[in-house]
Amino acid sequence: MKKRIFGNWKMNGSLAANAALLDLLKQGLGHADCEIAVCAPAPYLVQLQSLLSGRAIAIGAQDVSAQASGAFTGEVSGAMLREFGVRYVLVGHSERRQYHAESDELVARKAQAALASGITPVVCVGETLAQREAGETEAVVRRQLSAVVQRNGHCLSEIVLAYEPVWAIGTGLTATPAQAQAVHAVLRAQLLAATTAAARIPILYGGSMNAANAAELLAQADIDGGLVGGASLKAADFLAIVACAG
Ligand code: 13P
Repeated sequence: MKKRIFGNWKMNGSLAANAALLDLLKQGLGHADCEIAVCAPAPYLVQLQSLLSGRAIAIGAQDVSAQASGAFTGEVSGAMLREFGVRYVLVGHSERRQYHAESDELVARKAQAALASGITPVVCVGETLAQREAGETEAVVRRQLSAVVQRNGHCLSEIVLAYEPVWAIGTGLTATPAQAQAVHAVLRAQLLAATTAAARIPILYGGSMNAANAAELLAQADIDGGLVGGASLKAADFLAIVACAG
């Protein structure tokens, strides 16, 4: 399957910085043979819509409400994201699970809300360092994915999955290709048990992916792309990762 390289800008950027970064990406992309997206803070989606229309870079958001509309102050619905050309939305990123107490069930409902709006949810799963050291990695990611499978089984083939070990995010500690592949294989097996379309569901790796380690990670059998944080804010670094996937 075509590799996917998605940038997660997190809470970074400004109108000027985004324009400069996107300019460099557009100049440097050439004919990359992979699917590229950038997930921006919600206020910048209108800017991305105007700067990326007709371009090979898809627009992503970082969160979506589980609700369709109504008295939910501060929330942004899937339908609203859709109006700005959003194709992908992260759900259940570990920073939201950690700092906003998002449960597996809420993440599953957010995935459902995205699907209902015609947006592909990028469902993030991953264990903390303590969980890995306690030998709980497999149980944790299986439990996180299971909630999404149970609620969205009928359209599971429409999701993208991302394995992001929490201990590797923003730390410079990347999972080794073997460590990442082992967890991706567990997730693939779980998808296979749930849908005949499992082989078509992309499973991205995220966590300190950079130009130096991307090629080896992307060469693993069940690693179908990358979800890139810090390195997605620097055009040269992001383009180098894209080049590894092309
Ligand atoms: P870093 O690439 O900065 O480790 O972040 C990964 C991530 O959280 C992407 O969603």
